[in-house]
Amino acid sequence: MEKFHYINGDWVGQDLEKLEVNNPATGDVVGTVPIGGKSETKKAIDAAHKAFPEWSSLTAYERSSYLKKLHSLMLEHEDELAELMTIEMGKPLHESKGEVAYSASFVEWFAEEGKRVYGRTIPPHKEKRMMEVRKQPVGVVGAITPWNFPAAMIARKLAPALAAGCTFVVKPPSATPLTAVRLVELCEEAGIPKGVVNLVTGKSSEVAGELMSNPHVRKITFTGSTEVGKKLMEQSAETVKNISLELGGHAPIIVLDDADIDKAVDGVIASKFRNGGQTCICGNRVYVQEKIYDDFISKFVNKAKELQVGNGLEEGTDIGPMIDKDGYDKVEKHVQNAISQGAECVLGGEGYEENGCYFYRPTILKDVAPGMLIMNEETFGPVAPIQKVSTDDEAIKFANQTPFGLAAYVFSESVRRGNHVVNGLDYGIVGWNDGVPSAAQAPFGGMKQSGIGREGGHEGIEAYLETKYVSIGL
Ligand code: SIN
Repeated sequence: MEKFHYINGDWVGQDLEKLEVNNPATGDVVGTVPIGGKSETKKAIDAAHKAFPEWSSLTAYERSSYLKKLHSLMLEHEDELAELMTIEMGKPLHESKGEVAYSASFVEWFAEEGKRVYGRTIPPHKEKRMMEVRKQPVGVVGAITPWNFPAAMIARKLAPALAAGCTFVVKPPSATPLTAVRLVELCEEAGIPKGVVNLVTGKSSEVAGELMSNPHVRKITFTGSTEVGKKLMEQSAETVKNISLELGGHAPIIVLDDADIDKAVDGVIASKFRNGGQTCICGNRVYVQEKIYDDFISKFVNKAKELQVGNGLEEGTDIGPMIDKDGYDKVEKHVQNAISQGAECVLGGEGYEENGCYFYRPTILKDVAPGMLIMNEETFGPVAPIQKVSTDDEAIKFANQTPFGLAAYVFSESVRRGNHVVNGLDYGIVGWNDGVPSAAQAPFGGMKQSGIGREGGHEGIEAYLETKYVSIGL
């Protein structure tokens, strides 16, 4: 499948060198995209800049109708989008379908939320004066998106940006650009005017470099690693861009001794093994109280050992391939480091290579200690390290011992104890008896080095708005 750049309503880049996209489960080449750079990105930004006055002048209702059309098209093409996503990213087909529905839910939510962008009036301090606060779109948005959620991370940015009246240039990841291109094709089919949505694939440093330095780009929205996020933050200083960053996590899961153990096991499985553990908010370390430690582990192992690893297109697959060898090596390093320092592997503990593709079996480590690598770095793989804790406060202390603060989880049936833990956690998202808290209507984002700003919910559209204070003498 050959795909191209979308700039000012045209599919371009046929003459450029091509990047091959591989299926991480088979190694097959499944498509190509052009290797764009600075000059293509500049053209895309110019198109978005030119389209901005007209798009931002439409009523919120007019913009909403385009987004509603896009929403219907995404659902109409659910199977096709899901298959494409599994082929280029590897996640099981049922998860890809879930992601298409999740992505479409952002488009639907923001189609409505755009109609609720309110300003306010302020009581004046003088006679013959009116004071008001108006909201207006921030301008051209540059979006840089990750491979682990090839559709949702674009939809969560594109929908609020367009609903607010912004125009958009997206750089999808080199590993998974095909789903992104298909989404943009659907934007075209939805009749979104030319120049409003633009897409450039290719060299990250050049495309991102132009997005960061070009003064027409007023907002950068990025999902990816903390390391890259910090660089983008530095680069955005030159033209003082509005910036939203959704960065790395290292999510703790706390299981208190009054938890419903079966519910906790299901929640931890959902949080830990969804997307093969390649999710920013997936549980990375589990703290279980001593009274239920053995019982929890035995039930957890019994359930997790049923998970099937393989090609996401095959029926029955629960965990697809790792995205690449680097991802696999990191998982292996974390597991071996923990075992060499005294952790006991009670499930899995190994992976395998097939046709140059890398798979890791669901792995559970018990008696893990705070100093081990896996308790201090994001693993991004299907491994659950478990540490025994005694008190609720000790669990909170361990959970917060990290520079990250994206998501955390607590399992407890007690309102008092659960609430105490929630209050103590320095995290932007907390799932209490809930392993998958993400939803279009809720704010998603992190504290500390996990990022700046929120996506989803009302906060998600605020991120694309400027505040203008107007003082009127009468
Ligand atoms: C992420 O890993 O960043 C996205 C996960 C989600 O939206 O649930």
